[in-house]
Amino acid sequence: MIFLTTAIDYPNGSPHIGHAYEKVLTDVLARYHRLCGQKVYFLTGVDQHGQKMVRTAEEQGVNVATLAKKNTKKFTKLLDALSISNDGWAETIDPTHKACVQKILQHLHDDGQLYKKSYQGYYSIRQEQFLTDQERDTDGNFGPEWGEVEERKEENWYFKLSEHTAWLREAMQSNVVGIEPAFRKNEVLNAIEKAESTDLCISRPKERLSWGIPLPFDEDFVTYVWFDALINYISFAGYLKDDDSELPNFEELWPAHLHVIGKDIMVPAHSIYWPCMLHAIGFSDEQMPNLLVHGWWNIRGEKMSKSLGNIVDPMELVDAVGTDAVRYYLARDIVTGKDSDFDTERLFVLFNSEMANGLGNLLNRSLNMTKASLDGKLESYQHDDEECQLVRKSHASLLENFPQKMAEHDLRGALEALVSFITDVNTFAERTKPWELKKDESKRDQLTAVLHHMCESCALASILLQPFLPDAAAKMQGQLNAAHLAELQIKDLQWGLLPAGQTINKPKPVFPRLQAQETD
Ligand code: ME8
Ligand code: MG
Repeated sequence: MIFLTTAIDYPNGSPHIGHAYEKVLTDVLARYHRLCGQKVYFLTGVDQHGQKMVRTAEEQGVNVATLAKKNTKKFTKLLDALSISNDGWAETIDPTHKACVQKILQHLHDDGQLYKKSYQGYYSIRQEQFLTDQERDTDGNFGPEWGEVEERKEENWYFKLSEHTAWLREAMQSNVVGIEPAFRKNEVLNAIEKAESTDLCISRPKERLSWGIPLPFDEDFVTYVWFDALINYISFAGYLKDDDSELPNFEELWPAHLHVIGKDIMVPAHSIYWPCMLHAIGFSDEQMPNLLVHGWWNIRGEKMSKSLGNIVDPMELVDAVGTDAVRYYLARDIVTGKDSDFDTERLFVLFNSEMANGLGNLLNRSLNMTKASLDGKLESYQHDDEECQLVRKSHASLLENFPQKMAEHDLRGALEALVSFITDVNTFAERTKPWELKKDESKRDQLTAVLHHMCESCALASILLQPFLPDAAAKMQGQLNAAHLAELQIKDLQWGLLPAGQTINKPKPVFPRLQAQETD
C-alpha cells in the first residue's frame, strides 16, 4: 500500500494556483501508482484552526466556524474541478481528529514530554510567535516581516523538542527521514541546530485564542495550530481510531510513502517538529515518513501575494481553459522541487502544440484514415520496413524512460518523453503518407501496417496519459473502442495492445485548441 498525503491548506481565503499544483502533482503520482497495480491511499484536506482563521473571520464579521465551512467548500469544489482522486479527506475541526490529537497530547503529558513554563519576550502578532535574538536583523531590530512586535509575558505548555534533536540529526543523515530533492537536506541540518536550544511551544492561552483543540489536561489552553495540523497525517489514517470508525486501518497505511509539501513548510514544521513528534509518540525509525518538497509558482520571478494582487485563481483558470489544460500545464512546466514562473502564454503554447496539434492530431488522423481506408477495422499485415521499426524503437524507449522519470517524481520529464514519442509517430505519418498509400491498391498491406502502427501508438499514449489527463485518456480509449486498455498496468505494456480485427470508433476532437482571448 502506498500512502500519499499533501499539506492541508488554510481555508482562510480562496485556493490559489499553488494549492492546485500541489494537488495535481500528488494526484498524478497517486494515479500512476494505481497504474502500476499498487494499492494507493491519497489523503488531503484543510487546516481549519489557528489565529489566521480567527482574524479573517473578524475582518469579515462572520463566525469563525461559518467561515471555515464556507471556505472549505471552495477547496472541495476545486478538487472536483481538477479531477483529484483523493481517497481520504481531512478537516481538522472533525471530532475524530480532535479526539486523536487529545489522546496524543495526554500520552505525551503522561510520558513527561510536556512541561509548563512562563516566558517573557517579544511577540510578533502577525506571525503568532515569540521572537528570539536569532530573528533580529543586522541592526538588532525585528524587521517589517514580523509586523507589530510587543513584549509579552505568558505561561504556556512546551514540548521537549530538544530531547529529540540528536536522534533527528542522525536520522536525517542516514535517510531514516527521507527528503527529496536531496539538495534540501542541508537546510534541515542547519535548522536542527536552532531546535537544539529551543523547545516547542504547543499551546495558546484560551483567553487569547479559543479556536483550537483544548489541551486535555489544562482547560485554560488550546493546542498550537501546527501541532494540531501535523497530526492529520495519522489521525485521518486511522491512528488510535475508535472500533466503529470508518477510517482506514492505520497499520495498512503507515509508514507514509510520501508527504507532498511546499518548500516554505519544510523547516521547521515538517522536517523538525513532525519527525520529533512521531519519535516522541513512540514511532520507530522504520515508521518515519519521506518528504517530497516542491517549489513555488511565481509571477515573473515574484512571489504571488494578496498585496501585489497577482494571485492566479485556479477556479477561474479551469473555467477559462478546462481541467485538462490546467492539469497539463501544472505538471509540464515546472521541475519538481524547483520554482517556476506561471505564464498563461506558455500554458497555451504547450497545450496547443503538444496536446492539440501533437497528440490530438495523431489520434484524429489515425482514426480518420482507418475509418476511411480500412473501413474502421485493423487487420493483420505482413509489411515491415525501416520506418515502422523506428516507431517501434521509439515505443520501446518510451516504455523504458517514462516509468523511470515517474519513479524520480519527474512529471515534466515523463511528459517530455511522451511528447517526443508522439512527435516521432506524427513524423512517421508524414513520411509514409497513408493518404497516398490508400490510392494504390497494391500498397494495401503497407497501408494496413502504417495505420496499425499509428493506432497502436495512440493506445499506448492513452494509457501513459491516464495519470495526467484521466478524462482525455478515457475519451481516447472510447474512440479506439478499446475499454480493455483501462484495465492494463504499466508492467503489461508492450507492442500489440490493439489486436487484429479491432474496430475503431468515430473520432471526435479530444484536445480542442485553446483560443487566446479566452483568458483575457
Ligand atoms: O501552510 N506555489 O497552508 P497553506 C506552490 N496549513 N505551492 C504553494 C504556493 C505557491 N505559490 N503557495 C502555497 C499551510 N503553496 C498549512 C499546512 S500541513 C500539516 C499544514 C503550498 O494554505 C504550500 O507550500 O499556506 C503548502 O504546501 C500548501 O500550499 C498549503 O499552504
Ligand atoms: Mg502559507
